[in-house]
Amino acid sequence: MNTEIHPGNRRIAARSYALIIGVLTALAPWYISGPLATLNPGIFWTYMITGLLMIGVAIFAFVWRRSYWPAWAFFLLTVWIILAPDTLSTSTKDVSIIHFILGAAGIVVSIFWIRRMFGRMPHDRPKVQGRRFKDCSSSERTLFGLVMIVMGLGYCMALGYLYLTHAGLNGKPGMSVQDIAIPYYGNRSGTRLELMLRGQMRDKISPEELDQVVAWLKSGSTEDVYDETIYPIIMKDCAGCHSAKAGKNLPDYTSYEGIIGVSRVDHGMSIETLVKLSHIHLFGIGLVTFVLGFVFTFTTLPTWLKNLIIVAPFFAMVIDITTWYLTKWDPVFAYTVIVSGLILGSAWGLQIMLSLYQLIFLPGRHAGQPPSSTPMGTTGSNT
Ligand code: HEC
Repeated sequence: MNTEIHPGNRRIAARSYALIIGVLTALAPWYISGPLATLNPGIFWTYMITGLLMIGVAIFAFVWRRSYWPAWAFFLLTVWIILAPDTLSTSTKDVSIIHFILGAAGIVVSIFWIRRMFGRMPHDRPKVQGRRFKDCSSSERTLFGLVMIVMGLGYCMALGYLYLTHAGLNGKPGMSVQDIAIPYYGNRSGTRLELMLRGQMRDKISPEELDQVVAWLKSGSTEDVYDETIYPIIMKDCAGCHSAKAGKNLPDYTSYEGIIGVSRVDHGMSIETLVKLSHIHLFGIGLVTFVLGFVFTFTTLPTWLKNLIIVAPFFAMVIDITTWYLTKWDPVFAYTVIVSGLILGSAWGLQIMLSLYQLIFLPGRHAGQPPSSTPMGTTGSNT
């Protein structure tokens, strides 16, 4: 508590470092790409906008010394620098390394700047000792344990659903970054029909017929051409499986209405679908995060660690959902979707594991032992 002898000096130093990091970030594109810095517009604007925002925040903090939010804004910008898609894609190594160095330096500066962050309270705020699992009644403990287990199962199901609906979308088995990008960005290199005919359905069609189908797709997939040239090919090669009569529960391509769905270029989810999914996810994930976080507050852990694990899923959820929209715009943001998903999953996992462990293995309070909310408990060491 008394380690900060000159807190004011340290905060001024943090502002100066923030300014320096902002300037370096804004200058980085020229270092990476030389005079032709704008050659890669995506990377250029990521650095420029983030760097200028950092400079703005630092300058603001110099003028308005008493406000705390610039420190948090700066922290968010440094997190963004690390999570930006060009850091996470390994195609440009020097970019990734510079991002990591700038981001890590920024996070260290933010931690000094926001001394209250992750559990350090201001000197004058009274310390309140929350309840721990050992202070709970046995019915509360049962409830907490069961809800953690059910939420954990729910999360496993969510992962399974993610795998089943995404794996193999790019035509290759297993999960890849592309599989995550396709539902949002779509598959703009061609239609699903052409993709399948060049892939899994390759041996069902002759090369000449394939050319005819591709020519139909390129010419805009009209109904009269379908009736004239495509329908006979479908009847000959595909109807054995892809018709209502075949009874194989596969899409029916013996009608124009049946085949048109796979014959148009796929632009990914519509904004309407994305907004619908976003509000469902924000409500759902928000509530799950609250329930898990609430039970987790009863664990015995260092305060900073506990706060970090409670805050992380909220951050990750918002970044995850925001980057869905960015992925629709540019598939490279799928990397950010994946990393924020991993952060959310690991934080939930830690909350569940640590809570269950302490519920089951830490001894409860024995009869006669005072609860920690009595004066004896509160005057003892905290956390
Ligand atoms: C022997 C049966 C069989 C024949 C013949 C066949 N397919 Fe398929 N097709 C399948 C099966 C099974 C799937 C599902 C594969 C999967 O999901 O992995 C499929 C999937 C597809 C899909 C993807 C459907 C979707 O919405 O994901 C397309 C497109 C397709 N076939 C087109 C064709 C065309 C065009 C022909 C004729 C040239 C053809 N298929 C002939 C069995 C067949």
